[in-house]
Amino acid sequence: MLIVDKLNKSFGEQVVLNDFSYTFKEGKIYALMGANGSGKTTLFNLIGGFLKTDSGKIAFKGDNITNQQPYRIASLGISRTFQNLRIIPSLSVTENIYLSFKNKTDEKITSAFFKAPEYNNYQEKINTFLTITHLENVKDSLAKNISYGQQKLLTLAITMANDCDLLLLDEPVAGVQVEYRKKIIDILKNMNKTIVLIEHNAEFIENLTDNVLFLDKGNIIAEGNYQTIKNNTEVQEAYL
Ligand SMILES: Nc1ncnc2c1ncn2[C@@H]1O[C@H](COP(=O)(O)OP(=O)(O)OP(=O)(O)O)[C@@H](O)[C@H]1O
Ligand SMILES: [Mg+2]
Repeated sequence: MLIVDKLNKSFGEQVVLNDFSYTFKEGKIYALMGANGSGKTTLFNLIGGFLKTDSGKIAFKGDNITNQQPYRIASLGISRTFQNLRIIPSLSVTENIYLSFKNKTDEKITSAFFKAPEYNNYQEKINTFLTITHLENVKDSLAKNISYGQQKLLTLAITMANDCDLLLLDEPVAGVQVEYRKKIIDILKNMNKTIVLIEHNAEFIENLTDNVLFLDKGNIIAEGNYQTIKNNTEVQEAYL
């Protein structure tokens, strides 16, 4: 699904990724762990085209996507969420979801809204996403007025509306209460997509992921299920 081959990235003198290579397989859920500043978000930025690589190659479903524009990479089926929420606070929950349907990205917000018939075409899909993410009862609320946990669920609904094959989730449950964490685990499990997520929450990772990759000094130093990673002495040292 996604092949990352000998990826290098430095910021000035600081080497963040050092010959990073990994092959992500279709349908699996991966967690990317590592200390603060170990390069997790940078890897997402490189895959998504938000940063340029120094060297190395990234291929998605056979297409070379190295250093392509983010919109092009997204159009091939990679969707990502950001560590900081990227919802539009002054629009309703429903409007936020509507705006993220594929091919909507190149339209101005206003023109997207004044096309009523098109909006109706999406209504059924929007309702499905609202149900899956437990947001029906706040569908007309402005995004800024719902709880933080609900905003994270909205971020997921938006990501689903992108209709992608690969999801890159940057800290999807950071700061989210346990009831919402459980909902998010169920949603992600039922999606049947290839998912790479960055997370620090142990319980979340243990319950959701197939494989954990631990990043240190620009490369993967340990790989396996959560228990294996937790008991790895190199990992324990890197987290100190
Ligand atoms: N655009 C940038 N310009 C300069 N330095 C950057 C840039 N992006 C990241 N860095 C640096 O690269 C290093 C890795 O950052 P990154 O955000 O990838 O870490 P992370 O593993 O996601 O950490 P966290 O767990 O805190 O989110 C950090 O030292 C950071 O300051
Ligand atoms: Mg980060």
